[in-house]
Amino acid sequence: MTTVRGVASGKIILFGEHAVVYGRPAIAVPVRQVQAQAILETTNPGHGFVVDALDLKRSYRLSTAPANDPIATIIRLTLGRLTRPDPPDALLSLTSTIPLGRGLGSGAAISTAIVRALARFFQQPLNPEEISALVYDVEKLYHGTPSGIDNTVIAFEQPVYFVKGKPIERMRAGWPFTLVIADTGLVAPTHQVVGDLRRRWQAEPARYEVYFDQIGAIVNRARRTIEHGPADLNRLGRLMDDNQAILTDLGVSSPELNWLINTARQAGALGAKLSGAGWGGNMIALVEPEQATAVAQSLSDAGATATIVTRVAVFAHSKKAK
Ligand code: PMV
Repeated sequence: MTTVRGVASGKIILFGEHAVVYGRPAIAVPVRQVQAQAILETTNPGHGFVVDALDLKRSYRLSTAPANDPIATIIRLTLGRLTRPDPPDALLSLTSTIPLGRGLGSGAAISTAIVRALARFFQQPLNPEEISALVYDVEKLYHGTPSGIDNTVIAFEQPVYFVKGKPIERMRAGWPFTLVIADTGLVAPTHQVVGDLRRRWQAEPARYEVYFDQIGAIVNRARRTIEHGPADLNRLGRLMDDNQAILTDLGVSSPELNWLINTARQAGALGAKLSGAGWGGNMIALVEPEQATAVAQSLSDAGATATIVTRVAVFAHSKKAK
């Protein structure tokens, strides 16, 4: 009897969402307070490979899953990568504390947890780059034109400076800072928001390219601020506000997001913006550590359905991924 476990954290995008789809940089960080878990245990011979998605209240045999099922897809892709085309007799139990469709990387995290569990089960370790590539293949099937930032930050489990199609850059020594993450309670329909913006970009490319360049410049300023300190939280907060202003011009914010963003600023946050695709999902606010509880409380009072306080500790060495 073998039992193995794979886990993966959630994530948020700090700066650069949407522009990252168009080749500009973005910064994303893991959120360890929420995670997806995959437990794989051997069962009796002939039992087949059974998936038990506990949160979704779905249980099914891999052999009967439709071709477009995302969980079945990542299992099949990973088995192929591990050159184990025949699924073992096993039960895969999936749970997650990452809310679905809120920009916290729920899909990429569950895929990553599954890949890790399968790699452990067969004792064939995969490096973060290989895991990221497998998860990206599934993201492409379900999200249209994903930049690849979700699978990258979740597979590497570190703050990343990400440019589509380039090797990831881990963030350099800097100083930790505190964020409050608050959920509007609405699903952020990534595929729709990205598709809607794409149509507007196609109609007026020059106008939107300017916005994307402005976001790219903010991301680079934010990176320098994060990496080089001394702690300049006010500047980082202003950069968040600047990024949010352009996201609003891009048409990806929403009244619910704006309400929480303004609430956070009034409660003393140094800056705030949406995180992820927008139209719903989560916003993030930069706070002094001692303000975190008060800002989180104000956001809950204003209608946020969940809040998370997270401390972003930036990695100590900058190096390109292998
Ligand atoms: O909402 P999420 O976590 O799927 O983030 C979407 C981020 C976008 O930049 C809007 C799209 C992408 O693929 O990077």
